[in-house]
Amino acid sequence: MFFKLTDEQLMIQSMVREFARKEVAATAAERDKTKEFPADNLKQMGELGLMGMMVPVEYGGEGADTVSYVLALSEIASACAATAVVMSVHNSIVCESIVRYGSEEQKKRILPRLTSAEIIGAFALTEPHAGSDPSAQLAAAVRDGDDYVINGTKRFITTGENCGMVIVTAKTDEAAGHKGISAFMVEKPNPGLKVGHTEDKLGLRASDTTDLNFEDCRVPAENRLGEEGDGFKIAMKGLDGGRIGIAAQSVGVAQAALDAAVKYAKGRDQFGQKISKFQGLRWIIADMATEIEAAKQLMFSAAAMKDRGEKYTMQASMAKLFASEMVNRITAKAIQMHGGYGFTSDYPVERYYRDARVFTIYEGTSEIQRIVISNSILKDKRKP
Ligand code: CAA
Repeated sequence: MFFKLTDEQLMIQSMVREFARKEVAATAAERDKTKEFPADNLKQMGELGLMGMMVPVEYGGEGADTVSYVLALSEIASACAATAVVMSVHNSIVCESIVRYGSEEQKKRILPRLTSAEIIGAFALTEPHAGSDPSAQLAAAVRDGDDYVINGTKRFITTGENCGMVIVTAKTDEAAGHKGISAFMVEKPNPGLKVGHTEDKLGLRASDTTDLNFEDCRVPAENRLGEEGDGFKIAMKGLDGGRIGIAAQSVGVAQAALDAAVKYAKGRDQFGQKISKFQGLRWIIADMATEIEAAKQLMFSAAAMKDRGEKYTMQASMAKLFASEMVNRITAKAIQMHGGYGFTSDYPVERYYRDARVFTIYEGTSEIQRIVISNSILKDKRKP
């Protein structure tokens, strides 16, 4: 590895690995069938300090670095990707945005409830007609005395139903484009916030993805995050961190798929020998492991840059782009190595394959990551 993990980082990895294998993996296949939200696991994760990992200790968090966080998130994703996405949005986008933009009063009031997992956070940016282009959003917030009144529909919201608080973006100045978007923390229950349609998804089935309908939803002005007009930047910065999290989810699921494929190849006899003896399969295993290692390095590199306070937007997009495409190749190969059994729910690889499919889509598609990366290169004044 390019850099050495510290003893503390290794300890966190090993603690979360043990927890994930014992507590989270046990129910993952069943939850995939029943779509039951992993509330119990998330409560335990709150107790273990996994639901506010990068939040400073004074607000109930662990004050951990991003490298520790991606190690933990990868382990949870190896066990259950549906649990991991809830952890990821909650930590990377919700908690971090409040740490970054919240007032002292907001941090003291809201963060301890999030870090203890008393409530789970959601982030509502996407709308039915504004996915890759969030500046085209239509939701609006109008100031009315000490409140804002929000109207609009948000779509594909991770944990929309099971969250206790959602950061929602809405236009406070229609004429100002992305500079007219603001962010608000809306706590549930709120009579103006209704959970709409719940998606029936290919993967990540135990994590709910819903519409959120804001109908004259009144929010105290003290719940505005940052200044009026900060909403787009809050979202973009949140997504920078979130994208490292998607790389971590990808690495975790890919590792689980490789482990399953190796276990199967070592146990399966064909033509009088274990199929792991065939060079054709050994080369596939070597390629899978190499791709996972490359993705890990990109993930660690972006996380370490973030920890050092450097600009890491491009590296986060590179890590997300490479890792999310990598895991789609790896899970497909893992099924191929299982033959017909890989196509059945008797083995976990078909779940990994379905869960991984969204990684190249959410928190910015692969195409959006390529825009971010190429923009960063072309705007770099140090380059010719
Ligand atoms: N950090 C800080 N500021 C940023 C930024 C970043 N990473 N990226 C852009 N900005 C700022 C720019 O500096 C600019 O500010 P000024 O006007 O003050 O100069 C402003 O934002 C607008 O920038 P752009 O002109 O580059 O913006 P754009 O409209 O062209 O869009 C984009 C850029 C990268 C395509 C962006 O729209 C984008 O990331 N789209 C994808 C959205 C996305 O990822 N959605 C996922 C939904 S959330 C989700 O999936 C969560 C979940 O539940 C799992």
